[in-house]
Amino acid sequence: MTASMSLPEFVTVVDVGPRDGLQNEKEPVPAAVKIELIHRLQAAGLREIETTSFVSPKWVPQMADALEVMAGIRRHAGVRYSVLTPNMKGWEAAQPTKPDEIVVFGAASESFSQKNINCSIAESIERFAPVVAAARAAGVKVRGAISCSVGCPYEGDIAPAAVGRVAKLMKDIGVQHVGVADTIGVGTPLKVRAAMLAALEHYPISEVSGHFHDTYGQALGNIFECLQLGIHTFDASVSGLGGCPYAKGATGNVATEDVVYLLHGLGIRTGIDLDKLVDAGHYIRQAIGKANGSRVARALLAKRGVAVEAGCA
Ligand code: HMG
Ligand code: MG
Repeated sequence: MTASMSLPEFVTVVDVGPRDGLQNEKEPVPAAVKIELIHRLQAAGLREIETTSFVSPKWVPQMADALEVMAGIRRHAGVRYSVLTPNMKGWEAAQPTKPDEIVVFGAASESFSQKNINCSIAESIERFAPVVAAARAAGVKVRGAISCSVGCPYEGDIAPAAVGRVAKLMKDIGVQHVGVADTIGVGTPLKVRAAMLAALEHYPISEVSGHFHDTYGQALGNIFECLQLGIHTFDASVSGLGGCPYAKGATGNVATEDVVYLLHGLGIRTGIDLDKLVDAGHYIRQAIGKANGSRVARALLAKRGVAVEAGCA
């Protein structure tokens, strides 16, 4: 089967499991386990991996080993390793580790911006500007994440215009790509479409990606809607790892296995080997001792005769 003319032929899936997925784990996950996960993801064909974050260890203790993780990974040619850097301190710590891409993370909601990065949206842009300039001068790509693009745990519905505003602010300071994020997974396809269209007023289609948490089980529907707009880059996290420390009750990102199954079923190429991806997800779930959150992985593991616990982590 070939992809329909209206859908992209190839989609880039960014696995954010090692960062977004693990950041909320209460028990420390050893750096060696994170490194092994990254190795398994690249062996499965992932070409973009969100590796870690250079944030305050008081805010997110699980990411305190960022230097160790970056030093320990065996890099594959052609794989882009990205890291989160909310300010100059983060960039200065990250730069010597040679990330291929950095992520500044803002929000379409004022309240979430305050809770997550302790400043207003306007202040966040002021903090990001020198980070973006320094990264670009060093030849490092800059992505901007726009959290709470359809809904906020503190403010409820978010207007598409708020997404457009932040996308423009990011564009003005030189951010090259924006990730439109449904941080708490409340979005449904038409709301997500409106948020995407707002970002697309400022960025070309190849520089807008979707980042969906699956709290309400809507992520795959939202991705399908985005595909019909021509969006061809999506974040996902292997085995559905994750949750956000500043968004109570939000579950993990949509599982990479589920996204890849959807895409392959639509005849869209990803370059990812689903069986190896399932192995990577099984590895990390065994390591942290939690049930696999990917429905596709659970189905495929059951077919292989591997005992898996039902339910999400
Ligand atoms: P702050 O307290 O306002 O910062 O935090 P500050 O500049 O006043 O510094 C306070 C202390 O933090 C100082 O240490 C700094 O040195 C230290 P002290 O003197 O008290 O010992 N500090 C740092 N340490 C390490 N690395 C740094 C750094 N910066 C300051 N980069 C800050 C501001 C942004 C640092 C803080 O709020 C923070 O780290 N927040 C992290 C939030 C976070 O990581 N959230 C999760 C990631 S975002 C996300 O998951 C959403 C996403 O997936 C998309 C979606 O789903 O929506 C991307
Ligand atoms: Mg996220």
